[in-house]
Amino acid sequence: MNDSIRKQLNIQITNEHVASMAYLEMASWCADNDLPGLEEYFYFSAEDEREHMMEFYRYANANGCRSSIGAVPQLKNSFNSVLDILEHNLHLEQQNTIAINELAKMCHDLADYATLQFLQPFIKEQQDSERSVEELIVMVKRVGYDAKNLYFLDKQFKKLMQGKAAEGDEKE
Ligand SMILES: [Fe+2]
Repeated sequence: MNDSIRKQLNIQITNEHVASMAYLEMASWCADNDLPGLEEYFYFSAEDEREHMMEFYRYANANGCRSSIGAVPQLKNSFNSVLDILEHNLHLEQQNTIAINELAKMCHDLADYATLQFLQPFIKEQQDSERSVEELIVMVKRVGYDAKNLYFLDKQFKKLMQGKAAEGDEKE
């Protein structure tokens, strides 16, 4: 495997790990603000990113990359509102999309079609993730996120998570 792809795969391992940790910090903010539905949503996102990290970790090790997690920067753990935290969520997903696309471009340019193939499901998943967070932002804006709407809004996240849990059960 090409050296720059090897290096970039390890950067992506770190990106996925950092995203997972970032979502945990966001779950804590929700717990602190009595938003259990939204807290659960961020735990789910944290698990999701950890699974991605593991897939990259295994792929890189299986292909002679000596997988390794880099430093985790100080993560944002304070937000102004539910809208603010979801906008941060979208920002994180957009950054991850850029990183995965850069890696895909590198694989294409260096004719590493095997790694490009490995990346394909992640490229699709990034597109789905961004769309779903954008939909949540629209929902939050429509339902409202001031104190009197928060109970109802959080219930919507609870319902969303129950749907995801049911989807998970069907897959098993
Ligand atoms: Fe990811």
